[in-house]
Amino acid sequence: MCGIVGFTGVIPAAPVLLEGLARLEYRGYDSAGIAVFQNHKILIKKACGRLKTLCDLISNGINYDSPTGIGHTRWATHGKPSDDNAHPHRSQDGSFAIVHNGIIENYAMLKRQLQEKGYQFSSETDTEVVAHLLQDNYNGDLFDTIVRTLQMLEGSYALGILNVDHPDELYAVRKSSPLIVGTSNQGNMIASDIPAILPLTRKVYYLNDNEIVRLTKNSVEIFDLQHHLLDRAVTTIDWDVSAAEKGGYEHFMIKEIMEQPKALRDTITPRIKNGQIHLDGIEIDQALLQNIQRINIIACGSAYHVGVVAKYVIEELCRIPVFAEIASEFRYSNPIVDENSLVIIISQSGETADTLAALREAKARGATILSIVNVVGSSIANESKNVLYTWAGPEISVATTKAYSTQLALMYLIALYIAQRLGRVDDTQTSNLLAQIAALPDKVEQILKLAPKIETLAQRYAYLEHAYFIGRNLDYAVALEASLKLKEISYIHSEAYAAGELKHGTISLIEDGTFVAGLACVKRLVAKTMSNIKEVKARGAEVLLLTCEDYDIHSDEVDHILTIPSTHELLMPSLEVVPLQLLGYYVAKARNCDIDKPRNLAKSVTVE
Ligand code: F6R
Repeated sequence: MCGIVGFTGVIPAAPVLLEGLARLEYRGYDSAGIAVFQNHKILIKKACGRLKTLCDLISNGINYDSPTGIGHTRWATHGKPSDDNAHPHRSQDGSFAIVHNGIIENYAMLKRQLQEKGYQFSSETDTEVVAHLLQDNYNGDLFDTIVRTLQMLEGSYALGILNVDHPDELYAVRKSSPLIVGTSNQGNMIASDIPAILPLTRKVYYLNDNEIVRLTKNSVEIFDLQHHLLDRAVTTIDWDVSAAEKGGYEHFMIKEIMEQPKALRDTITPRIKNGQIHLDGIEIDQALLQNIQRINIIACGSAYHVGVVAKYVIEELCRIPVFAEIASEFRYSNPIVDENSLVIIISQSGETADTLAALREAKARGATILSIVNVVGSSIANESKNVLYTWAGPEISVATTKAYSTQLALMYLIALYIAQRLGRVDDTQTSNLLAQIAALPDKVEQILKLAPKIETLAQRYAYLEHAYFIGRNLDYAVALEASLKLKEISYIHSEAYAAGELKHGTISLIEDGTFVAGLACVKRLVAKTMSNIKEVKARGAEVLLLTCEDYDIHSDEVDHILTIPSTHELLMPSLEVVPLQLLGYYVAKARNCDIDKPRNLAKSVTVE
């Protein structure tokens, strides 16, 4: 939610900022702006709409030679998308300009107090109070001014701060919102996420909450709030710039779908050595496992859907009750979690506000935490004792695909690892499952060859208003993800239903031509699901069936059929999700949707 950048160096800042913002646009894209120094003042340029509107307005920044500046791309929280509400925001006297990602929870009270002092507001944002407070608190000592301002704020923030008296400096601070610092011999940069700094450097410093960083063209100093200089090691990012570019594909989403075999290999291969599972040295106490009463899996959106698959898998392999829970519900539910609980947190970004809050809640109650995260150094990774990284590389498309697949792969390894440690699977079962997990990337590669067929099929569905995805057990868990994928990028209303549940109400919506995707990949339940499919066919539904190539199904029982190779029943979701991702993508493409940036959405949801 919102992307911020800042740069100070030996080259003009504006092009660096705009390039950085382009790589953060997935975080929000309703308005954008930059601030740079000009004639001893701070010049702010901003525009409602996509970043391109701003770039056109300022001729890509080529006329500004200031080597220091900040920039922002917005996902509106307080106030509609507009020029006024776009960041950067300035203090009343123009001495400060700031960009902000997060939410200032006590902004209304602060705004009232500032208005009583005579400050006038030109936006509806929570952020503008910070700019005025900086002016109000300013005493010539910039560090002290920032600290005193932060002490008045409640909520979450990553802030980039410019001050007219310090034109060669850039200050930044983070609390519960992501922020990294890139360093190079051309200058130093702050950003909400790694892709923004990659054109400049691969060397980064990760910041922790309540740290303030002061950048000049040739120095990066990280302080705590007491002004102690902190020692921080530089980390080298091993992604290259092209990892965050489209590489000839029309959209990031299709590039990321196609990258899944590699992402799966990178995630799985290092964790299987000599027929054994190696989970990066995570520590889960044997006594905890022996006494464990329940496992909670907590996440949002697609990551939650991974949790739903994992519930079936862990319960089957480990015979431990598993509760897959939506983080925003879990955090306010007075959860039954204690020292005997294992809590698995799943998050691509590692910054999702509800998931982070749920993690903190579970930790406070004494649970052992194991997190599955894609972004190295993210808040969830930092706050978890046990972290398993998905090695999916940067995921730019708002709709997740390769992160979902790699999260799922890790969940299989975790389930098997726990089952093994509890002696619930024997060596033969373990090696059979491990061999099948290792074979998943090749099978996904094979399934991706269905793309042209699915693209053709998708033309038929371009004018749908409603869609239903039905399945049982693991097929139902995948239906949840397939339905979300279609609806979020194509804007077709879609629901996922447990196939056997449909007749308890929802079947009344099925009429002539209603689209139903039937998922029948769980072999032992194929006959049951096919009965439900016949029920909707009898009511006029147009059915697309997804099943395995070696199951005995007559294609004349449905309107269209997609078949995929089979694997161990528990692993089928890894394969069946792929054609359904392609279906969502190609339907959205046929409808001319803005696939990588669906309306109202943003990646990395850092507000609750
Ligand atoms: C849907 C999608 C979202 C995310 C959710 C959690 O395609 O991407 O539903 O899965 O916002 O995000 P992370 O995994 O970053 O916590």
